Amino acid sequence: MSDLATEISKRRTFAIISHPDAGKTTITEQMLLFGGVVREAGTVKGKKSGNFAKSDWMEIEQKRGISVTSSVLQFDFEGKRINILDTPGHEDFSEDTYRTLMAVDSAVMVVDSAKGIEPQTKKLFEIVKQRGIPVFTFFNKLDRDGRDPLELLAELEDTLGIETYPMNWPIGSGQVLQGLYDMYNKEVLLYRPDVNGNTKLPLEADGNIADGNILKENQIWRDTLDEVDLVTSAGNEFNEDAILNGQLSPVFFGSALTNFGVETFLKTYLKYAPAPGPKKTVEGQPVAPLADQFSGFVFKIQANMNPQHRDRIAFVRIVSGEFTRGMDVTLGRDSKKLRLSNVTQFMADSRENVENAVPGDIIGVYDTGTFQIGDTIFSGKQKLEFEDLPTFTPEIFMRVTAKNVMKQKSFHKGIQQLVQEGTIQLYTAWSSGDYILGAVGALQFEVFKFRMENEYNSEIVLEPMGKKIARWINPDQLDEKMASSRNLLVKDRYEAPLFLFENQFAERWFKDKYPEVELEAKL
Ligand code: G4P
Repeated sequence: MSDLATEISKRRTFAIISHPDAGKTTITEQMLLFGGVVREAGTVKGKKSGNFAKSDWMEIEQKRGISVTSSVLQFDFEGKRINILDTPGHEDFSEDTYRTLMAVDSAVMVVDSAKGIEPQTKKLFEIVKQRGIPVFTFFNKLDRDGRDPLELLAELEDTLGIETYPMNWPIGSGQVLQGLYDMYNKEVLLYRPDVNGNTKLPLEADGNIADGNILKENQIWRDTLDEVDLVTSAGNEFNEDAILNGQLSPVFFGSALTNFGVETFLKTYLKYAPAPGPKKTVEGQPVAPLADQFSGFVFKIQANMNPQHRDRIAFVRIVSGEFTRGMDVTLGRDSKKLRLSNVTQFMADSRENVENAVPGDIIGVYDTGTFQIGDTIFSGKQKLEFEDLPTFTPEIFMRVTAKNVMKQKSFHKGIQQLVQEGTIQLYTAWSSGDYILGAVGALQFEVFKFRMENEYNSEIVLEPMGKKIARWINPDQLDEKMASSRNLLVKDRYEAPLFLFENQFAERWFKDKYPEVELEAKL
């Protein structure tokens, strides 16, 4: 194997998806602990230690206790280089999360075993399923009384439409949690060490543990054996291809908070999760990671990650070839030539200047307004363009003005920069020139306001316009007289005209009146 092939084979790039509070941060933190990146539990959220890792970098996140932005954590574990792409759990930031899921090779789904599949997990899972990427499930919080594991499996299969394969099985839960019956490693992982101090007990050929162990006398143990027998005899076959196609999800149980079952999970996960694979281009020809040509795409742009460095970073997922610092690349959209000299990688405890990176890695390119989300960059002569990232039509709109009319400069700068990140959209009213912001979730406005004040020193006034239906109109068919108070005519930041309809009636009325006009929902 060439050096590049070896390096690629070590990469595991994934995202953790979950409903808020299921334990995503806690499990991430445990993984960082195994990777030696953090030394004590409690540093990711830092609620108690007051120490914050980069995944919770914004003050607003800390105040609200939610993770607003996707960030990247890289660490090494047992010969693998792991890139975890953090995703905001709150539904108002789904858009950011959806795009992040375009940049991973697999996903880990963390589910609260007392709650089962919750709405946000289901929503995020849809996109994982659409992409056909492998998904591994971790049923968390086993130290609390949870739901019947058989029921949890059935719910996962029914509500998400994916087959499951349990890799281990809980022996009790909550107060009476005894351990995990690990079918895959053929051992029992004890929740509390037994009288001899053992934490693991080997399984005999008959699937039972040796005589004399007190656990064997326990009814919970006998129930577990029955359940394991049921799921192994009536359940799905272990099928690696089905896992890689995203049709079969290996299922693990554990408790992230007490670090129980997380290591087994991580080790097994790393064994079956795929290394970076090829990616489709708009021309249809996939690009293989081992191609000579370097290529990557921008899935996120973020301004001012660190208030001390007033910078903007374009997150690029490398798809093929090798990145070396200072290399020349072409931006697919406008064929502009760029030199990639100021580039960082994201370790959990620092941001480091990066010399080399390979497919699967995420690099942060310092950006002065060149990049847009979805951009492809490549080295060499052959033009490449990867498939578009999903975008969402905003539903909630607000008129925005600067509180202090003397501070127009910082107001405009802030708006331009934050809009380019792609989480909020900017429109200009056709006749008045008023600025209108559009977003998918209401919290995005709050974040916007906070960041305008804190990062650009620009106080803003937001005037709610309520929900609207945004529809783009073919510019050749546009007549300004078509606009009314029920369908406001605005233009987007690429100067394309669109109407903001008051409601569905207004849209229908418009369609009846102008049947020849084509309306389109897009960003
Ligand atoms: P998230 O990132 O998915 O939103 O979840 P996070 O890890 O922050 O966990 C949410 C809460 O659940 C935290 O409680 C965390 O300690 C707890 N938790 C996570 N894993 C487990 C587990 O295995 N068992 C138990 N019993 N609890 C777990 P918290 O910090 O007290 O937050 P909060 O309750 O103040 O919101």
